[in-house]
Amino acid sequence: MNIPVVTIDGPSGAGKGTVARNIAFELDFHLLDSGAIYRILGLAAMEQGIAFDDIDGLVALANSLELSFPYDQEHTAIILDGVPLGQKLRNQTVADAASQVAINPSVRKALMDLQRCQARAPGLVGDGRDLGTIVFPDADLKIFLNASVEVRAERRYLELNESGQIVERSVILRDLEIRDIRDRTREVAPLVPADGAHVIDSSEKTVAEVVTEVRELCEAKCLT
Ligand code: C5P
Repeated sequence: MNIPVVTIDGPSGAGKGTVARNIAFELDFHLLDSGAIYRILGLAAMEQGIAFDDIDGLVALANSLELSFPYDQEHTAIILDGVPLGQKLRNQTVADAASQVAINPSVRKALMDLQRCQARAPGLVGDGRDLGTIVFPDADLKIFLNASVEVRAERRYLELNESGQIVERSVILRDLEIRDIRDRTREVAPLVPADGAHVIDSSEKTVAEVVTEVRELCEAKCLT
């Protein structure tokens, strides 16, 4: 059976997660937050004292993850082994750990099945870095959502502030620049628009405007 898949890739802070959740909600599709998978692996490695260059340790950890992403229009929950993780994944330390474990090809391979098996009827909307290029190369609709690094840093600042985390704007900007370079230049699955992806720059757009644009692309593909 052919399961329809929509992929939304792009750099951190471009608004992928919010747009993906809204589109999944409108289509009544499942949702995959692939960044959360890398964040969980980074966090679990730190908690269990597994070094980021201990490939066997990371792969064993990756193979043991049992995840799901129930959501409503406002929030995405991340359930690991039946337990909701809450805000534990949303901080700079975990984001940095995620992008370090994500460099390794064996780790990425180990996480591939976990991502692919989220494609269940009636369909899937996923966001990440390589969903359109590597994980779901045959996706029905591929979006590459971008925004200037300054706009992304401001959004991340407001988001962290809202959740009570006080981090200076300059620190967030520097962190995003470091992660962008790491994500864009790594050898395996670098962050690039997939062939045939629709590139949308959200710097000057509201979430609602981007959602409308993506919805129209879904309609054009008869996914609604
Ligand atoms: O999207 P998010 O900021 O939660 O992702 C955290 C990190 O996980 C990214 O900086 C990236 O290094 C990694 N990642 C990845 N491939 C994905 C999703 C996330 O390498 N599909």
